[in-house]
Amino acid sequence: MQSSSPLILITGSSDGIGLETARQLARHGAEVILHGRRPERVAAAQQSVEALCGRSMPEPVLADLSSLAAASALAAELARRGSYPEVLINNAGVFMKKLELSPDEIELTMAINHFAHFVLTMALLAQPGCRLRRIINVSSIAHNRGRIDLDDLRGRKRRFDSYGLYAASKLANVLFTVELAERLRDTVAVNALHPGVVSTKLLTTGFGMEGPDSVADGAATSVMLALDPEYAAVTGQYFAARRQAPMNPVAHDRALCQAFFAETERIVAAALAAQ
Ligand SMILES: NC(=O)c1ccc[n+]([C@@H]2O[C@H](COP(=O)([O-])OP(=O)(O)OC[C@H]3O[C@@H](n4cnc5c(N)ncnc54)[C@H](OP(=O)(O)O)[C@@H]3O)[C@@H](O)[C@H]2O)c1
Repeated sequence: MQSSSPLILITGSSDGIGLETARQLARHGAEVILHGRRPERVAAAQQSVEALCGRSMPEPVLADLSSLAAASALAAELARRGSYPEVLINNAGVFMKKLELSPDEIELTMAINHFAHFVLTMALLAQPGCRLRRIINVSSIAHNRGRIDLDDLRGRKRRFDSYGLYAASKLANVLFTVELAERLRDTVAVNALHPGVVSTKLLTTGFGMEGPDSVADGAATSVMLALDPEYAAVTGQYFAARRQAPMNPVAHDRALCQAFFAETERIVAAALAAQ
């Protein structure tokens, strides 16, 4: 049973939709652990959330999610503090316009949007004190255009295509959601969502466009899935504009979801063993 003021970790809550999600959740009484990679931006975000709700929030966490070791260390840091979130919102994301490899030799969009969140989620779930009841993966409508190549999940072999890699990373969020929901059935609700098209840094500098939706709209579906009792037991679904919506049909291919999960695990294990 989730408490009335649940502890919620939101990745990428120093800016954009993640920050607005933190603000809305704090206003609803949640204890929000903010996360970012740059101390000054996270501190400013924390101040704005606390000023809005008139309460202190838990100490924020810092981690550059381009590194899988950093994603794993983030989970370890929370355990060290005895801080076990009930809700995890995997929100941080990038749209890389040129080819860059992460320290683990993974293309950076795939590394941050998919692999780091896989590592963080699995590390939190493996902790003896784990209290997770809901996991929310912020995907995108772009996942419908994504293509998963199991021979190249790191995104290094294909010709660099910024939109193609972003769409693949967001399809990866949905496949991860479906497979994890199956594995955690009856214990943790796992869902994915499209937040809307919102004029954030990712949209304006990545896609080079403005969006029609407000940042408040962008946060609304995550807030609903995090707090609404009606969704406590809904799992393995995809949402947009606060409603269940159809996901890319490839996500209904159980064999693909299982193979995708296994291949992600294999790449992660190899990368972490090489540290
Ligand atoms: N905006 C849209 O229209 C739209 C549409 C569909 C889906 N989405 C999804 O919504 C989510 C939030 O995006 P947004 O639009 O709010 O973008 P944003 O304003 O650019 O925010 C992205 C967040 O992720 C953090 N982040 C980026 N790289 C990181 C790294 N290496 N390590 C740790 N944190 C990192 C950013 O931190 P910094 O502040 O340090 O950069 C920021 O807090 C993403 O998953 C995105 O794919 C957005």
